[in-house]
Amino acid sequence: MTHQKKLVVLGSTNIDHILNVPYFLAPGETLSAHQYQVAMGGKGANQAVAAGRAGANIKFITALGDDPFGKEALEQFKNDGIDTSLIKIVQNEKTGVALIFVNDEGENMIGIHAGANAHVTPDMLEERIAEIESADALLMQLEIPLETIQMATEHAKKHGVLVALNPAPAKPLSDELLSQIDIITPNETEAEILTGVKVDSTENAQKASKILHDKGIQTVIITMGKMGAWVSENNQGILISGFKVQAIDTIAAGDTFNGVLIMALLEGLTLNAAIQKAHAAAAIAVTRKGAQPSIPWKDEIETFLADH
Ligand code: RIB
Repeated sequence: MTHQKKLVVLGSTNIDHILNVPYFLAPGETLSAHQYQVAMGGKGANQAVAAGRAGANIKFITALGDDPFGKEALEQFKNDGIDTSLIKIVQNEKTGVALIFVNDEGENMIGIHAGANAHVTPDMLEERIAEIESADALLMQLEIPLETIQMATEHAKKHGVLVALNPAPAKPLSDELLSQIDIITPNETEAEILTGVKVDSTENAQKASKILHDKGIQTVIITMGKMGAWVSENNQGILISGFKVQAIDTIAAGDTFNGVLIMALLEGLTLNAAIQKAHAAAAIAVTRKGAQPSIPWKDEIETFLADH
């Protein structure tokens, strides 16, 4: 049996409370929803689940509250093929929460409360740092304290671990941090916040990519919604189109893309093939409601790719 490369995902877990509404509310407005759903989410957890279901050898570092949601999340992660030994349960704390509106176009608006995610601190990471240092790849997002991301990045970089950052939710990041990232995967809004370039065309996507390359990042992948993903290496970019499907809910589409992308790279796929696989997984996810309920398994991704 060949040795399977090891992925560590470091990030948040949320319980998503989702209201499907006809359109986004205006201030002061009350609106009846078509549907209310409570589902597991959080950008870190979604990416870990996407990688786990796609067949990765994955450990997830996150913090959960000592509430029923935390217990449920822990069980669910095990069922999704994730090694949960590095997860911390925080006493007297609630699991992170996201309140989400989804409109009839499948777009979403999200408000989050960190809860236990705020406890993913450098102190918590200290006891788990050897796992990052011995990994093949580290995948992170921005729903946990930035100091923890900085610490993880420094240790990973020193040990030759591939460092991937999905800079979501958007926030400005220091040049020092960016210089240590190998693969960055912003969407258009996040790319604009990081570079000041409005990514409204492929030409501008390349301008933004150049700025990120100049900061020291080798691989820039800007996800551009229905258009696909702008992929730039050595300052040469191309657009890799996604699959055309009828989207009903885009929650966790980006997370699914990220988890499957890194897993596919660790499997040895080329960057373009890994992006195709990630696009396929995200295309399946947007045809289903909710975050983790929408994330496909390995055989579903393979069937989709064979059919398209
Ligand atoms: O990216 C989607 C996720 O963002 C949701 O699951 C929600 O929890 C927020 O973290």
